[in-house]
Amino acid sequence: MKQVKLKDKEFRVSITSDKIQEAVDQIAKKINNDYKGKDVPLFISILNGSFMFTADLFKHIDFVCEVTFLKLTSYRGTASTGAVRQLIGVNEAIEGRDVIVLEDIVDTGITLEQILGQLKSFEPASVRVATLLFKPEAYLKDLKIDYVGMEIPNDFIIGYGLDYDGLGRNLADIYTLINE
Ligand code: IMP
Ligand code: MG
Repeated sequence: MKQVKLKDKEFRVSITSDKIQEAVDQIAKKINNDYKGKDVPLFISILNGSFMFTADLFKHIDFVCEVTFLKLTSYRGTASTGAVRQLIGVNEAIEGRDVIVLEDIVDTGITLEQILGQLKSFEPASVRVATLLFKPEAYLKDLKIDYVGMEIPNDFIIGYGLDYDGLGRNLADIYTLINE
């Protein structure tokens, strides 16, 4: 069983790269179907964690579209701080556009609520959310998540863009923290 050590913590493979790619494909198929014929939808990818998911998903999108990146953070170490800060704003025109927010993972939903709240003031025509991973047990909100790649248990994970204090984003598989 593949394991990695980052700083003081050990992690074990829990979702292989093949499984991740299957989930990405499934989301892309649904989005392609739902947005067929729409006028240049705008994907908003939430950095840092979503960069790999965004790159892989985007290659499967078959309609004319744009992508932009928004940087927020709510994590310190392995627990959500609850406070979300917006670090980089959106410059693209959002008013009247069909927007698809791309998240690596929705945990408590605090980040998502913040993003959707901020987006509303730009008056998009529509906003949908796609997340590769979703932790239903941790979710505190009732905002609709339109596209979910995989539901996962409420464990801390890394890899495929997700980090532990900045580390582990480069791993192609997803790993779960081994509890000592
Ligand atoms: P939320 O605001 O609690 O929903 O957290 C959302 C953000 O926290 C995600 O976009 C991730 O960047 C980060 N996050 C949530 N769960 C994990 C995890 O298990 N590992 C690494 N980062 C996570
Ligand atoms: Mg994130």
